Order: sequence, then C-alpha cells, then structure tokens
Amino acid sequence: MLIPGVPVKIKGLNKGVQQEILSCPFPFLSGAQTVLSCGREALYYGIKLLKHLPQRAHVPAYCCKSVLAPFKKLSIEINFYDVGKHLEPIIDKKSIKKGDLFLLIHYFGIPQDIHSIKQLCEKFSLILIEDCAHTLPDPQSSCPMGSTGVFSIYSLRKQLLVPDGGILVVNDNSLKERLSIIPKPKLKKVPLKKWLIMNFDKIAFFFGWPNTLKIKDALRDKISSTENIFYSSLLNEKVEISYLTLKVLSNVNFSEIVKIRKRNYYWLVDKLKDIDQLKIPFPILPDAAVPQAFPILVKKANYICAFMRKNGIGVDQWPGVELPKEVLSKFSGTFVWINSLILLPLHQDLKESHLKKIVKILKKSLKLCLK
Ligand SMILES: Cc1ncc(COP(=O)(O)O)c(C=O)c1O
Repeated sequence: MLIPGVPVKIKGLNKGVQQEILSCPFPFLSGAQTVLSCGREALYYGIKLLKHLPQRAHVPAYCCKSVLAPFKKLSIEINFYDVGKHLEPIIDKKSIKKGDLFLLIHYFGIPQDIHSIKQLCEKFSLILIEDCAHTLPDPQSSCPMGSTGVFSIYSLRKQLLVPDGGILVVNDNSLKERLSIIPKPKLKKVPLKKWLIMNFDKIAFFFGWPNTLKIKDALRDKISSTENIFYSSLLNEKVEISYLTLKVLSNVNFSEIVKIRKRNYYWLVDKLKDIDQLKIPFPILPDAAVPQAFPILVKKANYICAFMRKNGIGVDQWPGVELPKEVLSKFSGTFVWINSLILLPLHQDLKESHLKKIVKILKKSLKLCLK
C-alpha cells in the first residue's frame, strides 16, 4: 500500500474556469486576493506592493530555500531568527529596526500565537507577513491563519491535488488598491511531466503498486528540485496558472477538509501518545489550526523516515534537502527540528485504515531503528 504525503484525489471539477476564482479564491476571508503561480511568487509580489521596499527581513532560520528566493531577488537583507520548542519565534530585539519585514511561518498548519506577534510588530513598526504555505484558511475560525498580517501567502500544491498555485491575501487597506500592479496570470494546461507525476501517485494510491516514493527518492536530484521548476518562473516574471488548479479551487469544500484533517490528527494523537520513543510537540490544536501533517520528534529521524518511505508511507522531514546553506548550526532551536522532526501524512484522502497502516509501520521502524 502506498500512502502519499499529499492529497491525490480531486473532488468534483467545474467544467469551465470561473474568472471570479482568480480574484477571490477564499471567499470567507476579508482580505483582497489574487492567484499566482506559487507561494514564493505570492511572497514576491506581496513585497512589491509595499510603497517602500524594506531593507531587511527577519526570517526564521527554520525555513526552506524557496522562502528566501523572493527576498534575494529583491535584494533585501535577510536576518535569521531562531525558533523554540513550539516553533515560536525567538527574537533578538536588538536586531530589529523600524520598517523591517517580519516573516512568520505557520508551520505544518499549526497557528502561531498571532496576537503576541502582532503586538510585537506594532511596537517595533515591523511589517508582518504571514506565511501560510503549509496550510489553508479555516472558514469556521474567528481568526483564520493569514487574516492578520499586512499580507499573507498560501501555496496550494501541498494542500490539494494541483500542479501549481499560490495565493496572495492582502489585509492592509492601503495596499489593496495597489493589487492592480500585479500581472494577471496567463492560463495554461498542466505540463505533461507534472501531470504524469500526479497521476503516477494517484494510481499507486488506489492500486497499492508501485511504491512511487522509492522511485522518487532514487530520482530526487533529477525530478524533484522545486527550485528549478518554480524559481525560473520568478526570474522571468512570467505569471502562469493551470486551468486544472482553478477548476479544483472553485470546488473545494474547505470546511470538510479542515474537519477530516483535525479528525485524523486527533486519531493519531490518541494512538501515539503513550509511545515513549517519540514526542508529540502539539498534542492539542489551537482554534484556527488546519494541519498539513502530524509532526513528531524522534531520535534517528532520518533512518526512521527512510524506513517508512521504503515501506510506502509518505513521511517527510522538513525542510530536508531544501535547507538553505546560510542556516548555520548556531540556531540551536532550529536544529532540534531539522534533526528530529518527522511529518506523518493525515490529509483529507486518508481513512482510518490508512492511519492504522501508518502507525503500524511507525512502530515497526521505531523498534528496528532505536533498538
Ligand atoms: C514555508 C514555506 N513558504 C513558502 C513556500 C513556497 O511555496 P511554493 O513552493 O508554492 O513557491 C514553501 C514551499 O515549499 C514553504 O515551505
């Protein structure tokens, strides 16, 4: 059985593409919105909307290369900050200056304490950006992730079976009127390579063979460098989005996704809470949570991850090979996460039978790897 780490099913497709979806993919959010090719492109254009380009950005050391790409392209100096036991920012107040950008990542769909971060940003006149690339907004929440920062960004390809898609949500009224400076995306068909990869996983999920994870891991350097696929579009300033993404987006039942993911999350908490060899850093989900995966902390995480993937479970370490070179070992909080985290799948396509299989293989790998 293959259990992919990201969704593989499409639930309902609109025949035509509704143009409204391009300007309001999340109708339950009050911010002005626009759809772009990917999350980093949304970050890039969000920063470009600002009236003055900031000189410096405070970015968590626990990040991936793609987060840094827009800052580098805009020649904004990056100042890394560490994260703590609950992934909260650890900020050296001496390093911040009025007008700097402050990037907050809601890792794996677990919301940060947005109220205290907002207060800090107000106190020091920082421009707060919410990075929601690991999640979707919850329509039922009174304060969904992404509704507080000056602007926020989302990345769709880890949340839905889509080949591309980034969403920029602008909450600051003075920036909303400037949205027209962002190029309108050109609609395109899904590139064949991406379409084949998407369907390969789907077939493997339904029929249990082959274990596409093994093949992908073997080919990692060649096919899964997102840097090549996405960064090139930023450099060309070419904004494109596939019809398929828009068709999927116009049919998503966000409340249903939130419900399933939370249910799967608590099922896993229940089954894993008494295992001594692992830690569950977030046993209780805050209100606005829309988990992308189930984080656990273990010793020898890389061995356990490799064992589970060999056995068809789409677990991941984050950011894995996407860790930026600039992040040095001086960020001790960050290094705990880099070395010990494993993300277990819990997305909306998974039923109890899949979760049981995940737990079974996890227990087996703990026994073998930690003996
Ligand atoms: C935290 C975070 N922010 C932003 C991005 C960029 O999203 P995209 O890959 O859609 O450009 C990623 C992608 O991996 C990410 O993990």
